[in-house]
This record gives sequence, structure tokens and C-alpha cells, in this order.
Amino acid sequence: MLSSRLPPDLAPNPIGRAIARLRSQGAELVDLTESNPTRVGIAAPEGLVRGTAAIEPRLYEPQPLGLPAARRAVAAHVSRAGRAVPPERVVLTTGTSEAYGHLFKLLCDPGDEVLTPRPSYPLFEHLTRLEGVRAVPYALECHARWELDLDSLRRGVGRRTRAVLLVSPNNPTGSYLTEAELDAVGALCAAHDLALIADEVFAPYPLAPGAAGPSVLDGDRDVLAFCLGGLSKAVGLPQLKLGWLVAAGPRPAVDRALAGLELICDTYLSVATPVQLAAGRLLADGAAVTARIAERVRGNHAALQRLVERHPAARLLPVEGGWYAVVQIPATRSEEEVVLDLLERERVLVHPGYFYDFSREAYLVVSLLPEPHLFGAGAARMLERAAVQEGLESGR
Ligand SMILES: Cc1ncc(COP(=O)(O)O)c(C=O)c1O
Repeated sequence: MLSSRLPPDLAPNPIGRAIARLRSQGAELVDLTESNPTRVGIAAPEGLVRGTAAIEPRLYEPQPLGLPAARRAVAAHVSRAGRAVPPERVVLTTGTSEAYGHLFKLLCDPGDEVLTPRPSYPLFEHLTRLEGVRAVPYALECHARWELDLDSLRRGVGRRTRAVLLVSPNNPTGSYLTEAELDAVGALCAAHDLALIADEVFAPYPLAPGAAGPSVLDGDRDVLAFCLGGLSKAVGLPQLKLGWLVAAGPRPAVDRALAGLELICDTYLSVATPVQLAAGRLLADGAAVTARIAERVRGNHAALQRLVERHPAARLLPVEGGWYAVVQIPATRSEEEVVLDLLERERVLVHPGYFYDFSREAYLVVSLLPEPHLFGAGAARMLERAAVQEGLESGR
């Protein structure tokens, strides 16, 4: 009855079932997976969002790739010294998920493949399957930092491969791609005529101020590339549903891609007019929200680092940017058992590494956005409980 684009089993997993049961019993959970910036006590400047609804709400200006003023605003936002992005290369979407959908329609026939990082964003599985595309993983390996395993990327390239997906900084590993990694992936794409899709939604959040990694928009690569971003992460306004993709690469390939995207976008005309009219102001005034989120992430990361230091068998994996952190614990029990135990005993919710397809256990993934007092208390309970359960030395 239903298509094979959907998973055969639509029932919630055991962790989802436990959360629903505890909440129905009135339990208050400390949610260390909270990554909705509107729910963590970070206020947008007064009037920033309210002003959007007030902008000519009766105006409807259908333009497939987006209103020129909004495309100019995004182009200015992603431009840097030495990297002027032409507004004609900007395509507006309702978010990054829609941008992926458009790009898979543009680049892939049903059954074609795209290479996706592992561990990474769990939504890739659905975003690809819903477009009839197969995700083939390549590995990121954690040594002194998370590195792209170029051999596994090369091994993944096959007859039906159409694109390589990069996430920089990656969710949840927090790793930016280096210049050398980007160059190597670009060369591989050029050699096999693959497109490069770089999800840079978390790029404005380097852990060390000023230490953001390179963008796929930097430099001149002989490959059709797309850089993805959006208001939801750039200025912490997911409720406004505005994202973008920026095309880069050789002119003829970019022009053909934009013509294809124009047809795809025209079929949906999904981006609301008011948010496009407000885009310039939202991106300019939203910088205040970006700064507050960055400060929150740094504060919580430092707190987590201090807590982990008290638990010698736990290890905080290196973070370079983004909104997440990964704690490695000894794999004496399954991640699922650890997470369920934390929920039942401590009322603390964290994600198991397997949600993100880590190649081995045991990892716990936390968001660095929650309010500091909740984050500190929840993370302390997570580590204490994990220490008790895993027979770790608590160091106290
Ligand atoms: C890597 C990555 N890309 C994209 C998104 C979502 O972006 P959007 O809200 O624009 O669809 C997320 C959300 O967590 C993410 O982790």
C-alpha cells in the first residue's frame, strides 16, 4: 500500500516509546538533545520576528528562485572578503531539507546514489529515500581530530554515484573539513563528474572564535558545487522557514543547474513572500542571535569539558564547531541500554551514537544549546550514572 520510500516499520523506537510513556506520566525530562533555538531561552531581538508577519502580508510575488532582494541579501550574507557571491547563484528554499530534495531531483534518477558521511545527520536516510535515491556511506574517523577517510570515499564511488555530500561542521562530530580535505574531495568529484553538496548550516559556530573552516564557496574548483544554509541555524530562526542553496563551479554547469532548479522550484513555489521581504533585515539583525547562540555553545562545551575531566573513563571527543558534543564511554553495555537507563533513573535524555551511525559503540550525543543550569545538571547526572553503571571511577 505505502511506497518503499518509507521505512517498513513506522513505529517509534524503544527510546521514543520510553520518552512518550514518561511524559504521559508527567515526568519532567532534562532534555540534553534540545536543539531548537526557540526553546532554550535565547531571545531574538524585540520585533525581529513580529516585524516579519507585518511586512505586506497580502503581497504574493511568486518567483521560482526567490525574490531578487532576498537573493541579494543571502548573497551578501555568504560573501566574504575575496569571495563575492553573485545573487543569481542563490536559490531560496523553505529550509535545508527542501534544498536537499531539490538537489536530488536535479541530479539523480531513481536508484542513483549519493555518498554521505558517517557518522552524520540522521535525516540523510529519509531525505535520500524519499527521493528514491540511495545513500552510500563514507567514513569520518576520529584520531586527534575527526578526519575524512578518503579511501572509503573513493571506494564508495560507483556507476550510479551522482554527488558527494559534506557537512561542515558536521552534526554531531563538530568537525570542519580542512582545505586539503575539500581539495581532495573536489578532485575526486571532478574526476568522476560528481556534484559536491556542502551543508554549511553550522558554519557560523566555530568553537574557537574566528576558527571557522573553509567553505566550498572558497577557491576555484572545476566541479559543480552547492553550499546549503538557512535562517534556522544562521540566526536561530527555524520558525520562519527560509533556507538557501548557492551554486558554484564552472559557468555552463552552474547555468544548466540553475535552469533545472528554476523548473523544480516553480513546481512548488514553497517559500512564503513575507519572509523573503524580511530576509535582509533578519540576516542583519539576527547577528545578535548568532552571537548569543555561539556564546551558549562555548559556555556549555566548557562546562562539559570540566565535568568529563572528573570521569577518567569518559572522553569528550574533539569539537571544532556546530551545536553538538559527543562523549565516549566504555562499551560495557549497549548505547540503547545506557540511554534508557538514563531516562528511567535520572530523567535525562541524550542521544545514542547509533542514531548517527557511529561505526562502533559507545557514544552519547548531546546538544550544547540547553540553558546552562539545565545543561550542567543534566550532564553531571549523565556522567555520574554512566560512571556507576559502567563501573567507572567517578574521580571524586
Ligand atoms: C546538518 C544539518 N543540516 C540541516 C539541518 C536542518 O536545517 P533546516 O532547518 O534548514 O532544514 C540540520 C538540523 O539539525 C542539520 O543538523
